[in-house]
Amino acid sequence: MTASRTAPLRCASLTARRVTATLLVALSLCGAAAGSPRPSTPRPISVVKALYAAFDRGDLKTVVSLVAKNVVWIQYGPSRLLPFAGVFHGRSGVAYFFKLVDQNLKDVHAGQREYIVSGNRVIVPGWEDSVVRSTGGHYHVNNVHIFTVVNGKITRFEEYIDNADIAAAFKPASVARGEALFTTCAGCHGDSAQGRPAMHAPNLTGLGSAYLLRELRKFRAGIRGNASDTYGFMMIGRARALPGDRGLRDVAAYIASLPLHQSPPSPLGNPEHGRGLYATHCAACHGAHAEGNPSLGAPPLRQQDEVYMWTQLTHFRSGIRGSNAADTEGKQMAAAVKPLRPRELKDILAFIKSQ
Ligand code: HEC
Ligand code: HEC
Repeated sequence: MTASRTAPLRCASLTARRVTATLLVALSLCGAAAGSPRPSTPRPISVVKALYAAFDRGDLKTVVSLVAKNVVWIQYGPSRLLPFAGVFHGRSGVAYFFKLVDQNLKDVHAGQREYIVSGNRVIVPGWEDSVVRSTGGHYHVNNVHIFTVVNGKITRFEEYIDNADIAAAFKPASVARGEALFTTCAGCHGDSAQGRPAMHAPNLTGLGSAYLLRELRKFRAGIRGNASDTYGFMMIGRARALPGDRGLRDVAAYIASLPLHQSPPSPLGNPEHGRGLYATHCAACHGAHAEGNPSLGAPPLRQQDEVYMWTQLTHFRSGIRGSNAADTEGKQMAAAVKPLRPRELKDILAFIKSQ
């Protein structure tokens, strides 16, 4: 096997041998390695790279044009769990495979770590990161692709991938599994997820599964809660201890099924002073009555513990929360609070709690 930067093994090994009349003909087909200006057919690695580039552009027409008419395209895996697993034949089979992928997955990102060339075969260890449309399940897994390229066309493709994580992402969230997992959360957040101010742990009811899941994923990835964030840091370990992304979805589904709890107000500011400020600075995202706006990713606020919210606003202001480059929503919030003084923020919170 030869790394991508060197000439394919076929050509390299030929030059090492004694040159015979037959070999001279073979060498002339080896393109650059034999000194001719243009190879008559593209090298296998170029065909494979062109396929990945077309896939990244979403250019399915080019993808299909790079495979041979009689291609055999194999995605290993149990088809009862993975809708796109199977053996697909010909260009129409490959187009159908990509249609199945598109029907089932969104936000598909893939990367290649290395190209290993062995004769007319190209072996590519890489990774894939996707979200299952039907469940919202996310996976990030390793894979290996093996291509066979004949006369500039891919005649065979095989994909080996970590199927267990993909199958888990296809499983819908389970409230029952989430209930069992929540036993590890209740100590801080309370038996009904109503929050425990003494633990600085917020009320989780009313937030909805999409927001809960997003925050849990942020804690897990270290996007929210760094070492300078005493309370947020506690959550990193808790989110990582949950069993995979499926565990996060399960516990979020369970919490979202619990009845709404209204945390009582704490008298931090003056609600009448906060009314106009809230309308100007917060209502566009969080709604006129702080009811939240799921389409903007802005959570409801009126049920939340006032002291917890105050901590969050100071954290957004100082960059403890919302300054991570990958925290799209947190950055929006940080920008929203920066122009406001602490006194004004306290008045806004008092208004929110009056709703
Ligand atoms: C050791 C105490 C502790 C445990 C156990 C714990 N949490 Fe937390 N959780 C916190 C604290 C403290 C915060 C507030 C973090 C901050 O200030 O940013 C928090 C924040 C959260 C948030 C963000 C809420 C929001 O409004 O943005 C979610 C979601 C969450 N926890 C879910 C869970 C789940 C699910 C579990 C169980 C798997 C769990 N927590 C276990 C202490 C805990
Ligand atoms: C541009 C839209 C936008 C504006 C304007 C905005 N927010 Fe937010 N806010 C968000 C988003 C999105 C989040 C979720 C951040 C995350 O995912 O970590 C959020 C989160 C919060 C949180 C944390 C909630 C929790 O459960 O942890 C508080 C508190 C909050 N906002 C209060 C305010 C207040 C008060 C204002 C007005 C001064 C305001 N927001 C203005 C979009 C906005």
